[in-house]
Amino acid sequence: MIPKKIGVFDSGAGGISVLKNLIESKNFEEIIYYGDTARVPYGIKSKEIIKQYSLEALDFFAPFNLDLLIVACNTVSAYGLNAMQAVAPYPVIGVIEPGILALQNAIQDKNARILILGTKATICSNLYSKLLNAKGYLNTFGLATSLFVPIVEEGIFSGAILDSTIAHYFKQYPSTPDAIILGCTHFPLLADSIANFYPNNPLLIHSGEAIMEYLRNFYTLQNFNTKPKISFCASDSVENLEKIANLWLI
Ligand code: DGL
Repeated sequence: MIPKKIGVFDSGAGGISVLKNLIESKNFEEIIYYGDTARVPYGIKSKEIIKQYSLEALDFFAPFNLDLLIVACNTVSAYGLNAMQAVAPYPVIGVIEPGILALQNAIQDKNARILILGTKATICSNLYSKLLNAKGYLNTFGLATSLFVPIVEEGIFSGAILDSTIAHYFKQYPSTPDAIILGCTHFPLLADSIANFYPNNPLLIHSGEAIMEYLRNFYTLQNFNTKPKISFCASDSVENLEKIANLWLI
């Protein structure tokens, strides 16, 4: 199966950071983006509710006859993905496994120091660490950096507020990691400020890049030489979603 018509699901607008890579690849004919903007954020909710909302997203996508669904949200990838995969009539791919494969491809040293950033829920799931540990990377540290989400939603991508928030969180991990997993849709927008905190340019793992690497490895993709048709859909105002898309997709 060559995926041409795909869905992208996120708890809100953050998944646009992943959508950007999918659009730029020109490997898809049509993308339907659905953000559960009425109920975002998921990252501070319980695993039961996250799982329930994740399954409800499949109801939204049911009429579209998708070839494939990408879960851009790390929090859903941590708690809802297995349940979605068990019932969806098409493949459902989360961002955690691709992120880990991207890290493995980039860093072979099993002693590498890996800092995992995410929402409270993603970090509490411990899934990134568990999967990395299973592959022999034992030097992992999960850090919930929840305030990064509203900061990005405020359109703040650099400056004093961000720098002091980064300093507040990163004092828990003072020495430079070899890699930082940006385990949340919003964090790639803060990549420069996050990387600048540490002196030696740690490798940053970005879900959008990781998912494209994963799709190129495991699927046959068609080259369309043109950007896909995109439909934005939301459980609350789609205008807000489109406004963010206009800002982030430049
Ligand atoms: N999309 C979420 C994630 O990647 C961040 C926003 C939220 O908490 O819902 O984990």
